[in-house]
Amino acid sequence: METLILTTSEKDIEKAAEIIRRGGLVAFPTETVYGLGANALDPDAVKRVYLAKGRPSDNPMIVHIGEKSGLKDLTDLMTRDMELLMDAIWPGPMTMVVPAKDIVPRVTTGGLDTVAIRMPSEETARQLIMKSGLPIAAPSANLSGHPSPTTYRHCMDDLMGRVDAIICGPDCQVGIESTVIDMTGGDDRPPVILRPGIVTAEKISQVIGREVSLDPSLLKKPKIDKATGNPVTGQDFHPKSPGMKYKHYAPKAEMTIFRGPHDAVLRVIEDRRAKLEAQGLKVSVITYSDSEQETAAREFFARLRECDKDGTDVILASALREEGVGFSVMNRMFKSAGYNIEDVMEDQKMRIAIASDHGGFQLKEKIREYLGEKHPELEVKDLGTYSEESVDYPVYGKLCGETVVKGDADLGIVCCGTGIGISIAANKVKGVRCALVTSVEMAHLAKEHNNANVLALGGRTTQPEEAFAMVEEWLTTEFGGGRHKRRTDLLDEM
Ligand code: TXA
Ligand code: MG
Repeated sequence: METLILTTSEKDIEKAAEIIRRGGLVAFPTETVYGLGANALDPDAVKRVYLAKGRPSDNPMIVHIGEKSGLKDLTDLMTRDMELLMDAIWPGPMTMVVPAKDIVPRVTTGGLDTVAIRMPSEETARQLIMKSGLPIAAPSANLSGHPSPTTYRHCMDDLMGRVDAIICGPDCQVGIESTVIDMTGGDDRPPVILRPGIVTAEKISQVIGREVSLDPSLLKKPKIDKATGNPVTGQDFHPKSPGMKYKHYAPKAEMTIFRGPHDAVLRVIEDRRAKLEAQGLKVSVITYSDSEQETAAREFFARLRECDKDGTDVILASALREEGVGFSVMNRMFKSAGYNIEDVMEDQKMRIAIASDHGGFQLKEKIREYLGEKHPELEVKDLGTYSEESVDYPVYGKLCGETVVKGDADLGIVCCGTGIGISIAANKVKGVRCALVTSVEMAHLAKEHNNANVLALGGRTTQPEEAFAMVEEWLTTEFGGGRHKRRTDLLDEM
């Protein structure tokens, strides 16, 4: 199918409206995300939307209207809460789920007896609806599972050749999809938020003068089925909104969200980034502070798409506080990461892994005691060996190296008889820069010049007191950076 590329000129919107009237599909801008529109009252047109997106057919569409008066064509319900919300927020990023009149095809509602209705504020969207003279069913204009599109370029990336036209309008100002509220409780039961958005629970409660409730599934972090990427539904997780059952917004990269005090989170992310880059992985960092909730909402989906395009292997993101708009952004972010979350403590202790073979056992034990006494601020992880029985040094060198590179420790110390064998073994692990040192001066340079993340010492060649001084010097010396960084980068690429 050839996809027509249209502007927001009156003539082009007229063309788009004609396509909608004929049963075709048009991607168009709204203030939240781009929508893929079709005549909501034409079952065949709506079926084409499901096909073009690859969307499961039980996931209903939002029907977009151009004027508040259009609501009564689609539902018989009108409550006090609905009136208050329409007055305060429409046109705008809020969708109301209400009982559907028979005129609404059950394809549009995914087989439900309710319909989701919204009146967008974006000018092109409104003109398109008015000119077509029809309610327009429009899910987000992405392939099912992809991040929602917030620019026309995103629509082109997903839908060229699959839809009749794409209107090249402005970038979306809100950036996350509308707040979906279940109004079917009428005047008796309070409205229920099914999908959080920029219109927050606080705002809705303020408008209607009573507490709005949250669908309990919004507070759950479901397990993810590894094969399909979908959340596992069951006792613990059975969302009211069908769309919440499916894999969403998933970037190609592995994504982890770090949650905790912002400064501590940023430190952990930087540290993790360095380690992953040392392994040759492409890392992208997505962080916003709690004062940047709206920016985060506007940019988040676009950032995910950039990561897909630039070949990012790993995304490291910081969590926003789950309040207000932050709650809505985190709803998307958690899904993107498949609920892969790491909690960061306020003062995460620096972690040092230590390991030895039998020849280095005595010295390792002494270093462990020394660090425990002199450096209670450090967490020491003893990886063995735990006796003087003969063992193979490569096993322990590798174990310590991998512990550091995986991020289970920040630094490592390895000991064998001379320190030689175990340092060679540790250096076989990509990302390890292990330095065998025999003096305080070398310990200093190992850090300043080589940013050694593992220190090797010889149990039979170095006295404990000397070893402590070397460890001390290595721990406290800063990496020089500059030309040294260029060189350690070369090392890490090898
Ligand atoms: O901001 C938006 O809402 C965008 C723009 C294009 O308007 N549209 C959008 O549509 O996000 P979509 O299809 O990607 O998401 C619609 C959500 C889904 O989670 C769906 O399950 C839910 O609304 N929904 C639709 N009708 C429903 C109904 N009758 N009952 C419960 N949930 C419904
Ligand atoms: Mg969507």
